[in-house]
Amino acid sequence: MAERIVLETARTILRPFQITDGADLYEFSRERRVADAAGWAPHKSVEDSQKMILSVFSAPHTFAVVEKGSGKVIGSAGFTAQSRGSFASSDEIGYALHPDWWGRGIMTEVVRELIRYGFMDRELEAIWCSHYVENPASCRVIEKCGFSYVTEETLMDHTGEHRTRFYVLLRQQWKGAGHG
Ligand SMILES: CC(C)(COP(=O)(O)OP(=O)(O)OC[C@H]1O[C@@H](n2cnc3c(N)ncnc32)[C@H](O)[C@@H]1OP(=O)(O)O)[C@@H](O)C(=O)NCCC(=O)NCCS
Repeated sequence: MAERIVLETARTILRPFQITDGADLYEFSRERRVADAAGWAPHKSVEDSQKMILSVFSAPHTFAVVEKGSGKVIGSAGFTAQSRGSFASSDEIGYALHPDWWGRGIMTEVVRELIRYGFMDRELEAIWCSHYVENPASCRVIEKCGFSYVTEETLMDHTGEHRTRFYVLLRQQWKGAGHG
């Protein structure tokens, strides 16, 4: 069985999803403003969310974002197993947050911990992040976490084509900035 990895930030615990998280996940995954920006079809039922937990969200290095105190799952965040470029090891971070928690710096806090985990524990050489051009909030999270813009490409999802900006952060660059 895979190791159960649990990470922590000031306000959240990042732990593997469990099937009982279905109702919490459905609360934000049914929202178009979350699903469209994240590139998945809005969930239509708790069962849809449970299916996502058993498929996409059971992958390694994928975490439920749990609010400390309440124990509620308020987001998803983790690595998508997409490597780009000619790095020996790289992976891409993806995330989504319940709208009731937007604008408080929570995802920036979570992504910073995923970066630490990616470089220190997984020993990745490079970490990627991307956002649709029409998603300035995600752009800001990426900028605040220190990523550098690399390129723009067109990606397809259930709603059609999206111009998508890709950013990278190198381990050496991150360490040079005083981390690790
Ligand atoms: C993207 C998302 C995770 C951000 O989470 P969050 O916890 O609210 O992010 P933070 O509070 O850490 O940072 C958001 C930043 O975006 C800024 N922002 C928010 N909406 C904005 C807008 N319409 N235009 C410009 N900036 C905006 C905020 O002001 C903040 O920047 P600041 O700290 O400089 O003020 C959240 O909006 C979300 O889940 N969106 C839907 C799913 C999604 O987009 N997933 C990512 C796919 S790439």
